[in-house]
Amino acid sequence: MFTPEQTALVNQLIRQRRSVYPAQFTGEVIPDALIEQLLENANWAPTHGKTEPWRFVVFAGAGLQKLAEFQATMYQKLTPPEAFKQEKYDKLLSNPLKCSHIIALGMKRQESGKIPEIEEVEAVACAVQNLYLSATAHNLGGYWGTGGVTYMPEAKSFFGLGDADSLLGFFYVGYPAQPSPEGQRKPVSEKTTWVRG
Ligand SMILES: Cc1cc2nc3c(=O)[nH]c(=O)nc-3n(C[C@H](O)[C@H](O)[C@H](O)COP(=O)(O)O)c2cc1C
Repeated sequence: MFTPEQTALVNQLIRQRRSVYPAQFTGEVIPDALIEQLLENANWAPTHGKTEPWRFVVFAGAGLQKLAEFQATMYQKLTPPEAFKQEKYDKLLSNPLKCSHIIALGMKRQESGKIPEIEEVEAVACAVQNLYLSATAHNLGGYWGTGGVTYMPEAKSFFGLGDADSLLGFFYVGYPAQPSPEGQRKPVSEKTTWVRG
């Protein structure tokens, strides 16, 4: 049970959660134990059929350089020369180094395939929201990014994923240099229909 004060805190946490990007990180390194707490909360996401499809690969320290080199090399290898942008290559190589940790977000497909794939993706998305909220609760910055190698099938094995699995992006984490500005949402009433008989 939650007291009204605790409920108010949860409301504040959810509504104040913001995406914080690598350019806004201080460069300081977060203790691994804190990242483990974020992952522990991610592990409590809802999951249809208790498949727990989320798989995480945490890049830290020299691992960030490894990821940077991998994604830049993949981009170069898989992009036709006429479409290649040096600026994008440089960003893929430099952006990870602005982070304290980067968590690759994988979806492991159930062998039987009984649970619809979309529901497994949804379960991972719930796990990512737990990462977001936990980062906010610890005054850390983070965001879910789906750029780089996210949707390149050739990249999956680097993250321990098989053909039937999916890479859903990356959760970039660091200490925020500045508090986030207030978020903006259109009223939920515009997106809700009530049926009362
Ligand atoms: C599935 C998903 C993918 C996202 N991918 C990106 C991305 O590739 N690049 C980016 O800048 N933001 C990405 N975001 C973060 C959104 O831009 C961000 O949530 C949105 O601007 C609202 O801001 P807020 O998170 O601060 O409320 C993604 C968010 C979700 C849910």
